[in-house]
Order: sequence, then C-alpha cells, then structure tokens
Amino acid sequence: MMREPVEDTSTDQGVDPAEVMAVLDELGVGPDSDLISILQDVQERLGWLPAAALRGVSERTRIPLSRVYGVVSFYAQFYTEPHGKHTIRCCRGTACHVRGGQRVFGVISDILGIGEGETTPDMLFYLETVACIGTCFLAPAMLIDDQCYGELTPKRVETILESYQVK
Ligand code: FES
Repeated sequence: MMREPVEDTSTDQGVDPAEVMAVLDELGVGPDSDLISILQDVQERLGWLPAAALRGVSERTRIPLSRVYGVVSFYAQFYTEPHGKHTIRCCRGTACHVRGGQRVFGVISDILGIGEGETTPDMLFYLETVACIGTCFLAPAMLIDDQCYGELTPKRVETILESYQVK
C-alpha cells in the first residue's frame, strides 16, 4: 500500500514524546474525537502542537496526517512552534490606542522582557497585538487566552500578570 505524502513542517524541540502520548491518553483521543476540539485541548495542555502530537492525533483518530496538518495550518489559533502557555493579545485598535493602549503594551513588554511575537524564556507568556477585540467600552483592553481585561492601568497590568505567574 502506498503511504500518503506527509507534510511534517513542525518540530519536537525539546518535547518528550512520552509526555505527549500521556496527554493524548488523558484526553481520551480516539476515532470519535472531534479534530478541532482535540487539537485545541492538546495545545492547551502543551502550549503548542509539536509534530509528535500531530502524529499521535492522526494515528488515534485515524484522520490522515495531511488533513491534520491542513487544519492546523488553516487556523491561526494553532501553533507548531514553541509558544508561551498563555497568549496575551494587547489591543491596538483605535479606542484602545487613544486611551493609552501603547503604554499598556509597553508596560507588559517591560515586565515580561519580551516584544511582540515573542515568548518569555519560562514559556509562560506569548505576546502579540491584535486589532479591536470588541470591548472598546473597556479600553484599553487585552485578552489573556480567552479572558478579557479592560480599563487597564500599569498597576492593574502588573497585578494581572502576577496572578498568572502564581497559578
Ligand atoms: S479598540 Fe480595543 S477593544 Fe476595541
């Protein structure tokens, strides 16, 4: 039987395949799993989607690896490179900009020591800016994962980031 061509563009940088398989076991990945949901769950656990995870998901769901990669590359929410556990999306929309959004970004950047598109060395945070996140009435605002934080001040930003560092 011919093997299908596989697009294996991601890496396993420092990831223990046994740990990946343990995560798939815990999540109960199997033939009945919904692909997008399971990829979201795996990414939430590992912080990103290493090649071993994608191969494991493909084998266990019996969904061709090429399709798994197709889904992962289609949705911007999936990361195939090491990525901070928590994604900070600092709003750069107009309402946030006029209410000090750039200053908020600067505070986050200073506290974490990273710029846009970077991950902290401890792999806890990834920082990016995004267009309006839809909560202009709370400007300036940011998202950390799915949680929205508004009316941000430097002190509030510091407190919020600290709360993630002790979780
Ligand atoms: S401009 Fe920032 S939430 Fe709309």
